[in-house]
Amino acid sequence: AKVAVLISGRGSNMAALVYAAKADDCSYEIVLVASNDPAAPGLKLAQAEGIDTFAHPHKGLKRLEHDQIIHEAVTSAGAEYIALAGYMRILSDDFVSRWNDHMLNIHPSLLPKYKGLDTYQRALDAGDTHAGCSVHLVTPELDDGPVLAQTAVAILPNDTASILADRVLIAEHQLYPATLAKYVSRQEDPDWILDQVRTRAL
Ligand code: GRF
Repeated sequence: AKVAVLISGRGSNMAALVYAAKADDCSYEIVLVASNDPAAPGLKLAQAEGIDTFAHPHKGLKRLEHDQIIHEAVTSAGAEYIALAGYMRILSDDFVSRWNDHMLNIHPSLLPKYKGLDTYQRALDAGDTHAGCSVHLVTPELDDGPVLAQTAVAILPNDTASILADRVLIAEHQLYPATLAKYVSRQEDPDWILDQVRTRAL
């Protein structure tokens, strides 16, 4: 399956997706890395790996207009799926529904806990024993779509938000490629998604 990755920053999850795709038996390939920020460091890494990149700043554009530009770049690259990887723009309902069931995101918390930003500090403040990360399908509500997979990461007594973030990131880099690969290869099987949703409800 052909996948476009959307980034806004350093792109370490994008890199993890790219490296995992180098395995012969990987079920997906990255056909484009796109960004709303032409200066996103991840773009250089993607180029060095021989992957097409696209960048278009969102400044001065309406959300729908910018989303349309991204949509065109992604579809003309032949992508069938989108993986959001630190893409710091809220997407229009229009864009989200066009990619319904074909767009994934990684979020650094054990959803449904801590949607939005500052997830690590919020987990620490709450006295949680574990933080973690979740890969979920993207729906119009922020960080709210069905969870496909999660990794729990134990919180240590001296953790700060930044130390915890570094440790959660290691888990993200494992979880995202594995879940994306599984998802695209099982997507033809409708029972699979339902199963995931059901498991979470129990
Ligand atoms: C990650 O923590 C991810 O969970 C969140 O944004 C961050 C992106 O980091 N959505 P990177 O650009 O992939 O290094």
